[in-house]
Amino acid sequence: MLKKTLIAASAITLSAFALTACGSDSDGGDKASDSGGGGTITMGFAQVGAESGWRTANTKSIQDSAKDAGIELKFTDAQGKQENQIQAIRSYIQQKVDVIAFSPVVETGWDAVLNEAKAAGIPVILTDRAVDSKDTSLYKTFLGSDFVVEGQKAGQWVVDNAADADTDGDGAINVVQLEGTTGAAPAIDRGEGFADTIKADPSIKVVASQTGDFTRDGGKQVMESFLQSGDHIDVLFAQNDDMGLGAIEAIEAAGLKPGKDIKIVTVDAVHDGMQALSDGKINFIVECSPLLGPQLMDVAKKVLDGEEVEPRILTEETTFDQEQATAALPDRQY
Ligand code: AHR
Repeated sequence: MLKKTLIAASAITLSAFALTACGSDSDGGDKASDSGGGGTITMGFAQVGAESGWRTANTKSIQDSAKDAGIELKFTDAQGKQENQIQAIRSYIQQKVDVIAFSPVVETGWDAVLNEAKAAGIPVILTDRAVDSKDTSLYKTFLGSDFVVEGQKAGQWVVDNAADADTDGDGAINVVQLEGTTGAAPAIDRGEGFADTIKADPSIKVVASQTGDFTRDGGKQVMESFLQSGDHIDVLFAQNDDMGLGAIEAIEAAGLKPGKDIKIVTVDAVHDGMQALSDGKINFIVECSPLLGPQLMDVAKKVLDGEEVEPRILTEETTFDQEQATAALPDRQY
């Protein structure tokens, strides 16, 4: 078993060179660590991909903040694949970056590569998404939202608006759910938080739940199949704005009015989602901030300076109804 793991590890290490050589990092060159002597800090960042408006805003926040903080950023887009993220992290270890940060595509399967970073003495910071590992010494801190709370806030809106949400007035609130990427922390946690909260009202039931992979296309396709089932749908809970926006296209194509015939709750509060909320096509959005860059750079500097950092750094977030979205839109940064 151990032998198998080692063989697999060295195979991935070899191909990590290919990934880096393909120009996935910002300067393409090898660079030995020069932090600690007061020189430029080099950070390797392995991003999930570009699946949503949230992710695009998150990438921009990290790239802009690195520049502002004078941190040299080596950036990889893993295109939604865990193996690409693992390759990128191994490549950063070989390049001897000062610090590695990443937003794990899925929760499990990170211990081997994180142990390699630890053995190389390179601190790791988790941003946005958590890993499911018993060994918390494998990373310095986890910076990001509480996804369970986000799911709870979405569920609470459905509970609080149950009477209005019962669009066919039959006393049963049929909810369909568009889940995020299977195995990803936000998909697992938002689903849990939502399910626990709607238990408060037995008339609310999730009648169908499927992954739309956090993408607009995924949301549209899965919503089309939910609608084709012929069952009455009172509420859609989309675990991010992009899937909700895709679902709106499917709902309109089916001759129904999003936000009226089917109430819609989403998570993120990116600009397009907020516009749809302001237009009355979404009913409620739970905010999930992608602007993690400044905090990440700050924490990275502290870690490299040997300062203690909190093991869990939570992002502050709010919720929006239609009126609040209209008021917030002009100043929305993403
Ligand atoms: O991990 C954060 C989630 O990932 C966002 O809610 C979603 O839009 C993104 O793709």
